[in-house]
Amino acid sequence: MIYSRIVGTGSFLPPRVMTNQEFAARLNTSDEWIRTRTGIVQRHIADKSQASSDLALEASRRALQAADTRAGDLDLIVLATSTPDYVFPSTACLLQAKLGIKGCAAFDVQAVCSGFVYALATADAFIKSGTHKRALVIGAEVFSRILDWNDRGTCVLFGDGAGAAVLAAGSKPGVHASVLRADGSHAEILSVPGNVCGGAIVGTPFLRMDGQAVFKFAVRVLEESARETVAAAQMALEDVDWLIPHQANVRILEATARKLGLAHDKLVVTVDHHGNTSAASVPLALDEYVRAGKIRSGHRVLMQGVGGGFTWGSSLVTL
Ligand code: ACO
Repeated sequence: MIYSRIVGTGSFLPPRVMTNQEFAARLNTSDEWIRTRTGIVQRHIADKSQASSDLALEASRRALQAADTRAGDLDLIVLATSTPDYVFPSTACLLQAKLGIKGCAAFDVQAVCSGFVYALATADAFIKSGTHKRALVIGAEVFSRILDWNDRGTCVLFGDGAGAAVLAAGSKPGVHASVLRADGSHAEILSVPGNVCGGAIVGTPFLRMDGQAVFKFAVRVLEESARETVAAAQMALEDVDWLIPHQANVRILEATARKLGLAHDKLVVTVDHHGNTSAASVPLALDEYVRAGKIRSGHRVLMQGVGGGFTWGSSLVTL
């Protein structure tokens, strides 16, 4: 049996930090409101010159270095983003060129905030099938580009960044199980309902959200998804060392851990200093905890995504 294993992680945050106070200075909001309702204190915002592929490049270089792998040895790149550089080519292809390599398969996955878990499960399936041996999986976003900066209900929630993982074929898991789900009938509660047509933007290019509906949906499916993924791996919740839910809102994260009966010190929280970075949130959190020496080799990590679509899913992985 062939399995895939994460052999290196990396991440990158653009240097510009934006605090809650900066919003309070120009919108009818406050640091206190943002902290209490979301847990967010600050987020990173990309410079105009930085696209998703640029953030992805830095994160990928760090992941490749940690994995002691040359870019030329990759045979697959799967990149999750909802804020691609272009309509096409894919950000994965642009990243491949920036890495200075050619030939390997490269494509984007669009599952909004579930993107990294979808991309990881996809790469795992390629490796398990025996057709590919070494994959680079990335979540990269510049959500700051699709926010209405005058809408206090959404613009305070998000940030920019990228996270990456190198997956290699091995004889032991690795990725034990992944369960991916979607329900397109909830598209309207979280969307950017615009597109490019005839040289103009049709619809709106800004994020729209029904915050309370998203909140309730996220808490429900994160619990369900954790339980079904652990069962698919023939394990129990007690076997999980770390829970990394998509970093949307600290209240969503805490409610999920509480419903699952997981101790607070098993819950990974980075939303306070990253904001919600959509597809980048899980690999950013993973890399931060790996580099801090908290998540170590042999630990079992349950990674979870939930976001627009609606999409959701989890992967249970031994590092
Ligand atoms: N500052 C001050 N007041 C605000 C702000 C703000 N930034 N944003 C909204 N308000 C106001 C509202 O206008 C409303 O005022 P009103 O009572 O006069 O109408 C009041 O605060 C309460 O608004 P609610 O929407 O009821 O506030 P709630 O407690 O639900 O918090 C929030 C809003 C933080 C958006 C919450 O619903 C949430 O986190 N939902 C999940 C959304 C999310 O995480 N989305 C990320 C993308 S999806 C994903 O990643 C899964």
